[in-house]
Amino acid sequence: MNLLLLGRGKTGSLVAEVAAERKHHVRVAGSNENAACAALSAEKLRGIDAVIDFTAPHCVLTNIEACVKAGKNMVVGTTGWYGEIDRIRTLVEQHGTALVYAANFSVGVNLFFDVARAAAAALRHDYSGQIFERHHAQKKDAPSGTAIAIQQVICEASGQKEGPEITSFREGDVVGLHEVVLESSADRIYLCHDAKSRRGFAEGAVRAAEWLAGKKGFYDFKDVWRAL
Ligand SMILES: NC(=O)c1ccc[n+]([C@@H]2O[C@H](COP(=O)([O-])OP(=O)(O)OC[C@H]3O[C@@H](n4cnc5c(N)ncnc54)[C@H](OP(=O)(O)O)[C@@H]3O)[C@@H](O)[C@H]2O)c1
Repeated sequence: MNLLLLGRGKTGSLVAEVAAERKHHVRVAGSNENAACAALSAEKLRGIDAVIDFTAPHCVLTNIEACVKAGKNMVVGTTGWYGEIDRIRTLVEQHGTALVYAANFSVGVNLFFDVARAAAAALRHDYSGQIFERHHAQKKDAPSGTAIAIQQVICEASGQKEGPEITSFREGDVVGLHEVVLESSADRIYLCHDAKSRRGFAEGAVRAAEWLAGKKGFYDFKDVWRAL
């Protein structure tokens, strides 16, 4: 595939590496090349099969709008824009393109969502819940998109209006650590996912781009990762 990767930061650079390993042709645009979406004109996007975004919350929405309006499929790894999700879903559907997004593209974290979903039953049996997330000090958004996704999964599965409270820590070079603690007067249950590197995110994102080929629609990776 011909892929355009937006963002050559910590995750984007690894996505480019994994895409090349999987024999894709990759062009990368960072903030200089893509100021005011300069890399996303119809001319620049000619021949591109999918755009993968690992940039920042301040520019991800304009990136998505430009790509969707140009009819390009997108994989969106950048977090911090989910307040606009309904508007973007409508935009994608109106333009007949395909977009897959995830707060976390690693298969391990998506399995962890299922574990959290099963454990949410505790909240109907006098347990209280808490979510803790730790990331490197440079991370721009808090709480993490993954922690919010875990909270939503637990909320839906337990039938409670508000999910467990999230506490965020920003320190050192932690790739991404998410914990769910469920506590009753009798015991505690600890669930933990600890990312050892960014490779899991990168592989999931590239495989999501491959999966999108020939599709239309708006997809949450947690609903489709089993099909990759
Ligand atoms: N879904 C997942 O699996 C997953 C996994 C990890 C991270 N993330 C999310 O992905 C995003 C990036 O994370 P990261 O750790 O890679 O951050 P990062 O190291 O700060 O990299 C972000 C990159 O985006 C570039 N950028 C900024 N504005 C841009 C624009 N308008 N066009 C193109 N590139 C632009 C920056 O370029 P300059 O340095 O040139 O300014 C920087 O290289 C964050 O939202 C993070 O939460 C998601």
